[in-house]
Formats: sequence, structure tokens, C-alpha cells
Amino acid sequence: MTREALKHGAVNLSQGFPDFSAPEDIKRKAMEAIDADVNQYAITWGAKDFRDALARKTHSYLGIKIDPEEEITVTCGSTEGMIAAMMATVDPGDEVIVFEPFYENYAPDAILSDAQPRYVPLRAPDWTFDRDELRATFNKKTKAIIVCNPNNPTGRVFTLDEMNFIAGLCQEFDALCFTDEIYEHILYPREGADIRHISMAQLDGMRERTVVVNSMSKTYSVTGWRVGYCIAPPEITSAIRKVHDFLTVGAAAPLQAAGAYALSLPQEYYDTLQKDYQARRDMLLPVLERSGFRTFVPDGAYYIMTDISGFGFADDLEFTRHLIREIGVACVPGSSFYSVPSYGAQQVRFCFCKKDETLNLAAERLSQLKSRL
Ligand SMILES: Cc1ncc(COP(=O)(O)O)c(C=O)c1O
Repeated sequence: MTREALKHGAVNLSQGFPDFSAPEDIKRKAMEAIDADVNQYAITWGAKDFRDALARKTHSYLGIKIDPEEEITVTCGSTEGMIAAMMATVDPGDEVIVFEPFYENYAPDAILSDAQPRYVPLRAPDWTFDRDELRATFNKKTKAIIVCNPNNPTGRVFTLDEMNFIAGLCQEFDALCFTDEIYEHILYPREGADIRHISMAQLDGMRERTVVVNSMSKTYSVTGWRVGYCIAPPEITSAIRKVHDFLTVGAAAPLQAAGAYALSLPQEYYDTLQKDYQARRDMLLPVLERSGFRTFVPDGAYYIMTDISGFGFADDLEFTRHLIREIGVACVPGSSFYSVPSYGAQQVRFCFCKKDETLNLAAERLSQLKSRL
């Protein structure tokens, strides 16, 4: 979609990357590291100062103590972290449970690890799961469940009760949990709801069966740096490190040095990040509603899932093509997030990790959108 947007000069609200600058001080630390000749391979599982900073941050933010020598693997983005974790732990014939709609990589990750993905729907408008359906999907072949929280594409933030239910099933069926926590700092608190980030690793009995997959990409607006990490118990970490060594050897050394600095930023950094994203979300939501979309208000992450059935297009692909070519705005077709394309045929996703001027231009263009009904 990004390539299509470039080709047709469309405002790109498809792929989730900021079009505003990364923080100046973080960029400067990366330049200083290159200048100081931090230019050779870091230790394959991550530079010591970066792992130490990750351990400190995980303790202060999640209250979890991790051993940076035995429980962290630094990877090339959380993208590598997820597949390295799966390849390290999943065997042919195992099943991996994936909530659907899902971030596009999870099913291919499971398939590349020779596992069978099993899908459990998150149903609009609240994107909750049916507990009986989830329980019925767990069985003796279940090796793991993937939980993306806060969730891409839906914006759902799971409640403590839901997380405990998933945790209970993992323990009952002796399954692992891979949690993608890349949006942990992008949350939209609201009256009457307890919107906060809960890591699966914080829950009773889950630390020893959870792989936390995370990254610098979204929290520090550096998606192109490709620095991510896995936090897991020593035995699982040892397996992940072996896979990681053969996949990529290591993540960029000078960017890990800058990462160590970023992780030591004060709370105000995260408060501002959240406030700024809240303003962007609150700007785009009414624009989409006015233009004829039915929106699902996100409690976290930086996407808005929408329902396009009010426009009268055959499917999400036809609609997306029209939006890019005739209106000049790019989004992601809903079918990308489902195992069966028809499930997402009347949905599209917009991202709002963009400058005000980009969102304003998108708003202007979206005002030209007409229903075919
Ligand atoms: C849920 C989720 N996980 C992982 C990624 C990729 O992250 P990284 O840049 O760390 O590889 C994305 C990117 O959009 C995402 O939305």
C-alpha cells in the first residue's frame, strides 16, 4: 500500500510508521555512537548497555526483574523477535492460536515454523473474544498463543480479566504465550474503563511461559532502525539466541547504543507521546465518521479500524483502490488481517501516526468521498 500510495501521490495512512521526526536527542546519540566507532558487531544477543537498560526499564515500567545476561535477546525489530521465538520453541505439528483480525506477520510466522495457526475471532464492535470458543481451540497440540496487546489492527486493550482467562488456559494446557507489546506506551485512557498496559509476564504463573516481544520502533518513532527484543526465561532465551544468531547475527550496534539512552528517558517522554497520539486519534476519528466510515474507537496503538459497508463497494480491495486513485488517500484493506479474505471485505484500517498537516490533507481529500449506494 505504501508503494501504491507513492505511485499515485496519495496521503499514506496505510503502513504504521511516523512521518514526523524521531526525537532529536535519540538521533544525536546514534550519530555520536557511529562517531565513537561503535561500528562493529555487537554481542550477538545484544550490546550489554542496551540489555542492562532494558532490564532497568522493564523493572520500572512493568515491575518485572529480568536478568540481562540470561533473559534478553536483542533482535532486528520485533519482527525478527517473533519469528525467532517461534522457531526456537515450536515444532512441526504444533498448533499456535492467533486472535483474528491479526497483525499480518503472525500466521506466516507460525507457518514458517511448521506449525498450524488456529484462529479465534475478536468480534466487532468491542473486539472481544468468546471464552468458550477460545477454550475449545486449546488442545493437546497447542504450543502457544499469540497476544498482541495493545492490539493492531483493532486498537483493543485487553482487560485484566481477559488476560487472566488467557493465562489460565495457557497453564491448563501447558502452552506458551508470545506477547507482542510494541504499543505498550500508546494508550488512550477514558472515563469508566481501566485502560492500562498489562504484560502477560506480570500475571501469576506466566513469567515462566511468556515470551515478551517488543521493539524501539513505535515508542521512539524509529521504525527504520530495526531494533527489537525478546524477554523470556533462560532456557527459552538460550534457544531464541541460537536461532537469532543464524538468522541475523545481531541488530545494529550504534542504534543499540542510542537505544540504551532512549530507554533511560523520563516519564514525561511517554506522557507526551501518549498525549500527542491521543490528539491525532481524536482529530482523525470525526473526519472518518463524517466521511461515511463506521469507526471502531481504539483504546491503544495508532490505528483506526473502520467498516465501509455504507459506501456500497464490492470489497475492501475495490474500495482501497478507489480511495488511493480517485480520492488520494491510502489505507490497508481489511482482508490483510484475516485468514479468510471475505471476513475483512467490508473493513479498512487507517493509521494516524502522522504530522498534523498530513492528517489535515487526508481530511480534505476524504471529504470528497461519496457513497455508491
Ligand atoms: C503489532 C506489531 N508488531 C510488530 C510490528 C513490527 O515491528 P518492528 O518494527 O519492531 O519489527 C508492527 C509494525 O507495524 C506491529 O504493528
